[in-house]
Amino acid sequence: MEQNVTEQKKRIFSGVQPSGNITLGNYLGAIKNWVSLQDDYECIFAMMDLHTITVRQTPAELRKRTLELLALYIACGIDPEKCTLFIQSHNSAHAELAWVLNCYTYMGELQRMTQFKDKSARHADNINAGLFTYPVLMASDILLYQTDLVPVGKDQMQHIEICRDIAQRFNALYGDVFKIPEGLLVKSGAKIMSLQEPTKKMSKSDPNPKSFISMMDDFNVISKKIKSAVTDSEGIIEYRPDDENKAGINNLLSIMAVVTGSTPEDVAKNFSGEGYGTFKSAVADAVVDTIRPIREEYDRLIKDKAYLQQIYKNGAESSHRLAQRTLKKVYKKVGFIVD
Ligand code: TYM
Repeated sequence: MEQNVTEQKKRIFSGVQPSGNITLGNYLGAIKNWVSLQDDYECIFAMMDLHTITVRQTPAELRKRTLELLALYIACGIDPEKCTLFIQSHNSAHAELAWVLNCYTYMGELQRMTQFKDKSARHADNINAGLFTYPVLMASDILLYQTDLVPVGKDQMQHIEICRDIAQRFNALYGDVFKIPEGLLVKSGAKIMSLQEPTKKMSKSDPNPKSFISMMDDFNVISKKIKSAVTDSEGIIEYRPDDENKAGINNLLSIMAVVTGSTPEDVAKNFSGEGYGTFKSAVADAVVDTIRPIREEYDRLIKDKAYLQQIYKNGAESSHRLAQRTLKKVYKKVGFIVD
């Protein structure tokens, strides 16, 4: 007998913080991957503004960057017809679930988070409770939507792990309330490194602008930054991922591989025997060629505020509807009166 079963698509949730210039790392490690997943999964992507205020923000700039991030998502190829796109603060369920889950998360596990350790070292004058409980809010973002997969860069994997731990702990107490999500990494590009200190990840909050490529940089600035990337004095183009001395070259090889759809090993083969100058010029051109069409689309979209507003309003509605199902279930389980 023929079975009439429509297979439900698996669900994906991810997001970027509008806390600074969106970098090539954010694009290659996360957003580019989302674009390739949107046909096969039910995708929800958000602008994670609640997370940004764990570090002081200038209010007008945060508002501006949140809208710019939405335009950038779409310019990168995220299709608002296929995906739900919303602003995190527009859906109060995120903060509400975070409160509940805070009561199911231990201080000890939060203390082990490397991002907390890094950020509290960098912002020693503002080690606030939000910075400490940040991973609980992130867990709430994911768990509210009964998410199957979370496509992120490598630096976020520890947060996915704690999210799974919190969900399993809650489920053990109350039954199958949350789906247990999995992190999803790209093969190459999951950790793009700083151009100036290639053993550190490329970060939008790096005080040295030469260390990262912003998706908003002028094309000649992008070229210059790549051409002045720190490498080594060996002068040999080889991919040696375990050799720290090669960190700069490994990073450029990885970048080149992702933007040209190749592998770092093959790129190294193609450039073997060439000088670093020639190689860097080729990487610069390939990166600019990748960013150019995105920027053209971005420039067009950012002028259309009404269109962007329509998208985030629709997104707020759909995300609210989906999130309420989980939140109601959670409230009921812990003993709150729900109706
Ligand atoms: P954020 O805003 O720091 O970064 C957004 C995404 O970009 C990835 N990424 C990188 N990938 C490769 N190389 C790099 N150098 C690099 N830098 C950043 C990040 O891994 C991430 O996927 N906490 C998150 C935002 C968040 C979130 C969520 C993500 C909040 N709630 C729920 C997924 C699900 C963050 O700060 O990402």
